[in-house]
Amino acid sequence: MTDATSSPEAAGRTATSDPPLVRITGLRKSFDAVHALRGVDLTLAAGEVTALLGDNGAGKSTLVRCLTGVHPPDAGEIRFRGEPIKLHSPDEARRLGIETVYQTLGLIEDLQVWQNLYLNRELTAGFGPFQVLDKKSMISHSKEILSRLDVDVPNVRATVRRMSGGQRQSIAIARAANWGKTLVIMDEPTAALGVRETTAVEALIRRLRDSAVTVLLISHDMAQVLRVADTAYVLRRGQTVARRVVKDTTGDELVGLITGAIEGDTHG
Ligand SMILES: Nc1ncnc2c1ncn2[C@@H]1O[C@H](COP(=O)(O)OP(=O)(O)OP(=O)(O)O)[C@@H](O)[C@H]1O
Ligand SMILES: [Mg+2]
Repeated sequence: MTDATSSPEAAGRTATSDPPLVRITGLRKSFDAVHALRGVDLTLAAGEVTALLGDNGAGKSTLVRCLTGVHPPDAGEIRFRGEPIKLHSPDEARRLGIETVYQTLGLIEDLQVWQNLYLNRELTAGFGPFQVLDKKSMISHSKEILSRLDVDVPNVRATVRRMSGGQRQSIAIARAANWGKTLVIMDEPTAALGVRETTAVEALIRRLRDSAVTVLLISHDMAQVLRVADTAYVLRRGQTVARRVVKDTTGDELVGLITGAIEGDTHG
């Protein structure tokens, strides 16, 4: 962290010196006596994959929920393309092109795969006020979305209730990747996936980056972080303790920063 290119200030600076997509400073959030976030600073450079690391309870999911309008932060600032924003609902975040795959996935068990992919975004067809749900298009587009992402779901008309953990996770990721035009946030997206599905998700993350979508990836898998992320932030007990350029770090260093065996830098 000595040269200018790896300083927190340089994070997210692009060749054209546009503001970073997201800049979070001094974010705090408590739930009664639990101080989940105690001063988080984090920058998401546009078109990069940023990993968010930290032990269980470090505050990663809480940070995501503040960034997606689920929780109002108690203090601190979130800037989006340089402008301070206050998000009051997940819908507001969606309108900015931010999509999230939550740890809990957010699928509706009793709906079919295609209905989950088009949840709250149903296509209609017809003339003027005489609109009906365009089930045929949604089903055929759903097949395309899943095959493009190499998701192995035998039938888009099957209900999610009948899917395996890995299939559910893949459907939730496919939905976010399909609608997230600006920022896709994934909270442990491969935790329940097998080897082949994990490889497909990592390829998808790279494809998103190649199409200029910014990705925030929460992962406990250091090898995965080293494979797909450009930058990594480490949270410890609600505070940012380190930022590393991934190509300049190692899995051992990241683990040391997560556990506290390596002290980290002064942030927040
Ligand atoms: N809605 C809530 N109400 C009360 N406490 C909460 C709530 N959400 C999170 N917390 C607490 O805030 C702290 C941070 O939780 P958070 O879920 O953000 O951690 P995390 O880093 O995502 O952990 P994990 O890796 O286990 O998913 C924990 O102590 C947790 O119990
Ligand atoms: Mg979590």
